[in-house]
Amino acid sequence: MPLPPPPSGARVNQADLVVVANRLPVDRVVDASGEETWRRSPGGLVTALEPVMRRADGAWIGWPGQPDIEVEPFEFEGTHLVPVSLSSEEIEKYYEGMSNDTFWPLYHDVIAEPRYRRVWWDTYERVNRRFADAAAAVAAEGATVWVQDYQLQLVPRMLREARPDLTIGYFHHIPFPAYGLYSQLPWRRQVLEGLLGADVIGFQRVADAGNFARAVRRVLRFDTKATGISVPNPDGSTRTALAKAFPISIDAASYVELAQRPEIRARAAEIRAELGNPRKILLGVDRLDYTKGIRHRLKAFGELLADGRVSVDDVTLVQVASPSRERVEAYVQLRDEIELTVGRINGDYDTMGHTAIRYLHQAYPREEMVALFLAADVMLVTALRDGMNLVAKEYVAARVDNRGVLVLSEFAGAADELPSAVRINPHDIDGMKDAIMRAIDMPPAEQGRRMRALRKRVMEYDVARWSRSFLAALEQARSARESRDAEAVTA
Ligand code: G6P
Repeated sequence: MPLPPPPSGARVNQADLVVVANRLPVDRVVDASGEETWRRSPGGLVTALEPVMRRADGAWIGWPGQPDIEVEPFEFEGTHLVPVSLSSEEIEKYYEGMSNDTFWPLYHDVIAEPRYRRVWWDTYERVNRRFADAAAAVAAEGATVWVQDYQLQLVPRMLREARPDLTIGYFHHIPFPAYGLYSQLPWRRQVLEGLLGADVIGFQRVADAGNFARAVRRVLRFDTKATGISVPNPDGSTRTALAKAFPISIDAASYVELAQRPEIRARAAEIRAELGNPRKILLGVDRLDYTKGIRHRLKAFGELLADGRVSVDDVTLVQVASPSRERVEAYVQLRDEIELTVGRINGDYDTMGHTAIRYLHQAYPREEMVALFLAADVMLVTALRDGMNLVAKEYVAARVDNRGVLVLSEFAGAADELPSAVRINPHDIDGMKDAIMRAIDMPPAEQGRRMRALRKRVMEYDVARWSRSFLAALEQARSARESRDAEAVTA
């Protein structure tokens, strides 16, 4: 079969492993001499895949993060990077629109209202096609292609049609909603068909995989058995796609290493002193996103101050809310609401020497985050819905001293793996207030018991293990297919 033409400058059909993600694993930065260069982005996925990519002569296909720039493919730390360029209009319709104003709210249980716009869908299809073509052009004969996340749900099927020789995986980093919500999507059939182009479809929680299988039964009427879905082939035969939970994790060892550095420990002490050495520091770290339950958290904390159960001399809440998707209306509104609430609470309770909430609308390097984790007595993860929530795992990995308390929403994927956290329902404000008080007052021995259990899980199931198990499932899918093909030839 003729292969599609490669993007100019790309190595043609050489990579044995191809990752396709909305973003490239690098950020464009200007260095000290004013030259533009690329720096590895901080995410765990990048770290986890780096060794595998080196070994497999890997390629990574993604958007370089800025509109209207054409960048030739280039080598970066052992990986071949293939930039997919997007125009401003495509970013507006495919990324801000369809991805982040339709799929994002729909898949997070309609916390914000999803908008269904046909022009966004058309652009989403067109852009997914561009990513699929780029992957088809660099993948070697029989290669493995691993597609990441909700921005690219149509890519698996497009790729299978163009390159039936490939083994295709897809990992969904965010929740997959219950059918009653999913069924709102005008393109519910096309999205399921798109995903089922993959041999292995990975989800964060068992419940997400279950919701997906149910949607497949209802919309497509395909049979599902445990984690297997029978998908008809064009020739009338069927194949089995695996839809299963593979909870993602972090590069835990790198957090341990940072947490042990003397300068980071000193910085943690300095942060405490800068906040006026309160008895207890509470911490929230999130992208500024309506799924994170930041408003609910502020409400609970504000009420604790109003009730006199905590005072600003005693307890400070540090809230890092890193800027995100700032051109999407729901995010603009959320920022206004949060900043109004923070201003009100601080106005009511601050003293000259102490603040109720230290609010930081900024992103920080990992070193500073680890110092903050070490300074914080209580970590608040109050998401209304979250695929996993890696911040919860980062806090745990950083607490090499086995101290500190994780307060964790049952609506975050991490709750399935971290039962020793103090569990909350963020909609239940009274329950959350009591949980925060329990965390503030928790004796060191109980902190130690819980933190040791949490750390055991996070240190064992790190992101390298996650990628290994996903790639092993893909290998199994490949050998199953090869033996079927061999049988078909001998039959
Ligand atoms: C979530 C999604 C990722 C996304 C990240 C940051 O974690 O699952 O796919 O990359 O948010 O959002 P952004 O829109 O800035 O890429």
